[in-house]
Amino acid sequence: MRSFRDYMAERVRKYYSSPKNRFAGGGDFFTAPELDRAFGEAIGDFLYHRLKEFESPVILELGAGRGLMARDILSFYREKDRELFDRLTYRIYEFSPTLIDRQRQTLKDFPNVEWVDEITPLEGVVLSNEFFDALPVHVVKGEKELYINDAGEEVWLSLENERIREFLKRMGYEGLEQRIEVCLDCIEFLEKITRALVKGYHLLIDYGYTSEELYKFPEGTVVGYEKHKLRSDIYSEEEMDISAQVNFSALIEYGRDFGLKTVLFDTQRNFLASIPHFLTQLETLSFEESPEALERLSRLKTMLVSMGDRFKVLFQSKGL
Ligand SMILES: C[S@@+](CC[C@H](N)C(=O)[O-])C[C@H]1O[C@@H](n2cnc3c(N)ncnc32)[C@H](O)[C@@H]1O
Repeated sequence: MRSFRDYMAERVRKYYSSPKNRFAGGGDFFTAPELDRAFGEAIGDFLYHRLKEFESPVILELGAGRGLMARDILSFYREKDRELFDRLTYRIYEFSPTLIDRQRQTLKDFPNVEWVDEITPLEGVVLSNEFFDALPVHVVKGEKELYINDAGEEVWLSLENERIREFLKRMGYEGLEQRIEVCLDCIEFLEKITRALVKGYHLLIDYGYTSEELYKFPEGTVVGYEKHKLRSDIYSEEEMDISAQVNFSALIEYGRDFGLKTVLFDTQRNFLASIPHFLTQLETLSFEESPEALERLSRLKTMLVSMGDRFKVLFQSKGL
């Protein structure tokens, strides 16, 4: 018997460490960096002037998948500003040995990339796309916490974890009679990020909700994906991507406690639509008539439309 949190942590680690392809067409899901390079380039454009302020800027990416966002950000800077590119270090924090190998292949032309096991002090930006949703959550309902027994069945036991109680109190969720997911791992990562940021920014892109929207998920938000299909039987032995939506209110509230200022919190659509490079790409592609341009245009629209509202962008700063 183990808590749902421990169960999910093990499943996620196993899933990402397997040699199978998890990404894009042959895999289980598409992420925005997998859709088109315009996404990483847009992030590069958004961060450009901010990064230039630092003498030796560092970008630390958490959970880099196949390394495509890193490649597109770095290519964007190499093209736009060689001087900044030469000063920049790109660090990747990743727990999957299989994906680290993939990232090394993708990024072999960039000498300024390094892989780290810990989040150590830096001046610059910590960023992630669809990383926090992979972090395991505790599931509670009233005075009970969810456990999974050896037969893969749900068992509700009395809630003993004081840190979960503190979280429920801090967020004003006490007494709610619905499934609530408590991502203590998310809070721990946020604290580590804040501590590591001597001066700089935290940029997080993911799908999620705020406290005001909690009522929309009476059964919680944990889901499994396999071959682009939603699976309801997440306790089956089959390999699938298990994730939980991100509680943005918690990251904003705890961020404030730790010393992070929220600079921006918006939908991915509004975020991308405010970035000049992304808009220029959209415009250029819409004037071209080649099948490739049309294909790319439709991928950019996916980022704005079907992903646009579901995905949110949180941008926080420290010491600036
Ligand atoms: C859904 S994928 C997103 C990948 C990439 N950012 C993208 O947008 O395509 C989640 C990534 O986070 C990594 N990851 C998940 N949990 C992690 C953890 N606890 N520590 C380090 N990496 C983790 C996975 O191995 C994978 O690279």
